[in-house]
Amino acid sequence: MKIGIIGAGSIGGTLARHWVKLGHEVLLANSRGPETLRGLAAETGAKAVTVTDAVKGVEVVVVTIPQKAVRDLPKNLFANVPKEVVVIDTGNYYPARDGSIPEVEGGMLESEWVAAQLGRPVVKVFNNIYFKSLQEKPAPRGTPGRVALPVAGDPPEARAKVLRLVEELGFDAVDVGGTAESWRQQPGTPCYTNDLDAARLKQALAEADRSKLPQYREAADAAVRQYFASLQKS
Ligand SMILES: NC(=O)c1ccc[n+]([C@@H]2O[C@H](COP(=O)([O-])OP(=O)(O)OC[C@H]3O[C@@H](n4cnc5c(N)ncnc54)[C@H](OP(=O)(O)O)[C@@H]3O)[C@@H](O)[C@H]2O)c1
Repeated sequence: MKIGIIGAGSIGGTLARHWVKLGHEVLLANSRGPETLRGLAAETGAKAVTVTDAVKGVEVVVVTIPQKAVRDLPKNLFANVPKEVVVIDTGNYYPARDGSIPEVEGGMLESEWVAAQLGRPVVKVFNNIYFKSLQEKPAPRGTPGRVALPVAGDPPEARAKVLRLVEELGFDAVDVGGTAESWRQQPGTPCYTNDLDAARLKQALAEADRSKLPQYREAADAAVRQYFASLQKS
């Protein structure tokens, strides 16, 4: 499969490495241009391209950049991309990093906001797993304790394709439902960065409480603020 990845950082680089090893053709883009991705491209086997080229002729596009940067992507990026092309959103909103996004602060779900910016439905996945776990924890199907990942998004055919990609990568895939259910895997929710197996993930998704979304976000954001503060001290 040909897959375009916009964002060549911790998550984009990790996905590129895995997918090239699995035999997929991977296009990788960042904000600074393909010439700045030569090293990563050589190391992963992905092809460095511009953002505009990362959405051309592919079956799947992954948007994996800081949430605030979604606003900076070229306008009409997806205008000529066939509607069958699946768009994956790995993003998380951290006010400490992204500044305020008033619509999301007002109750819009993070992936609803991303979909509105892109003018395309998206499938939320890989947002609740730390990149090192994504790197190190793929396992064959049936392995006891295999990490499970939640998948939420629209349309159902796109979600079905992403469920298959997640399984192929080495994780149990749990169908959360449409984008309207994606709040269950946003930052700070019970399933967030806990590397749960499928049974425990389903339980965590069921236990998530929508009325607590502001508290979940605040707890996750506090951890990020603490991390930034530790970087400044060192
Ligand atoms: N790190 C994790 O463990 C983790 C886990 C799950 C989900 N996430 C989420 O996934 C997203 C990506 O996280 P990350 O940690 O992989 O980020 P990262 O390591 O900081 O890398 C960000 C990448 O996005 C690119 N980028 C930024 N603005 C762009 C733009 N306007 N156009 C094209 N590319 C752009 C950057 O390119 P340049 O360097 O050229 O600017 C860089 O390659 C975030 O929303 C994050 O919250 C992260």
